[in-house]
Amino acid sequence: MLEVSNLTVDFGSKRILTEVSMRAESRNITALVGHNGAGKTTLLRSIFGLVRPSGGSIRLFGDSVLGQPTAHIARCGAAFVPQGHHVFRDLSVGDNLLIAQGTGARRDRKAADLDAIYALFPILDERQRQLAGQLSGGQQQMLALGMALLRNPQLMMLDEPSTGLAPVLVDQIFGTISDIRDQFGVGIVIVDQNVRRLVEFADHTFVLKAGRIVAEGSASDFTDLDVLWSLF
Ligand SMILES: Nc1ncnc2c1ncn2[C@@H]1O[C@H](COP(=O)(O)OP(=O)(O)OP(=O)(O)O)[C@@H](O)[C@H]1O
Ligand SMILES: [Mg+2]
Repeated sequence: MLEVSNLTVDFGSKRILTEVSMRAESRNITALVGHNGAGKTTLLRSIFGLVRPSGGSIRLFGDSVLGQPTAHIARCGAAFVPQGHHVFRDLSVGDNLLIAQGTGARRDRKAADLDAIYALFPILDERQRQLAGQLSGGQQQMLALGMALLRNPQLMMLDEPSTGLAPVLVDQIFGTISDIRDQFGVGIVIVDQNVRRLVEFADHTFVLKAGRIVAEGSASDFTDLDVLWSLF
């Protein structure tokens, strides 16, 4: 689904990512963990065409997308939910979802329509007429996920969807993310601060340290968490 090879990113004279190679399989949950400033967001932004890398390649569903505009990458089937709750605060929940509704035809998977979003997030159904800015942080995060899902992506990249949420909401968000994968067949690439939780949750994890991939594996490869922390 996604294959990043030897990706290098420089901001001015500062090298931020050094020959990063990672891949994410369709319908899998792929995690990216690492310290603050390791380059996780920069990697997601590069894949989505928001950062211009200095070298390497990015292939999405078999096509080379490095250097392509974000609109093209979105049309290829990728969606990016940035950190923070990017919703239109002064519009109702229902209007936010209407704006996000896409027309992209899905081939082999169930299309996400408004009914499906409301079934997945009953709280958004209850609050359809409420202003998005009046939702709690967790509810706004669910709205942002719903808006991204309505564009019928095959790959969703999520930057810290649970950061700043109460533990009970963290559980809900993680549960929702696996529902999105299971119900809509969407592959997920996720960055999150809840590292222990994320590594157990993901099919595969990549560890990024100072702009380089230093380890990768499944949860069983990281059962000894001391090993994981030593990689940070
Ligand atoms: N637009 C930019 N211009 C210059 N430097 C940048 C820019 N964006 C990020 N950086 C730098 O790149 C490095 C990696 O930042 P990035 O945001 O990718 O890290 P991160 O792993 O997502 O960190 P966090 O866990 O804090 O979100 C940091 O040193 C940051 O200061
Ligand atoms: Mg970040």
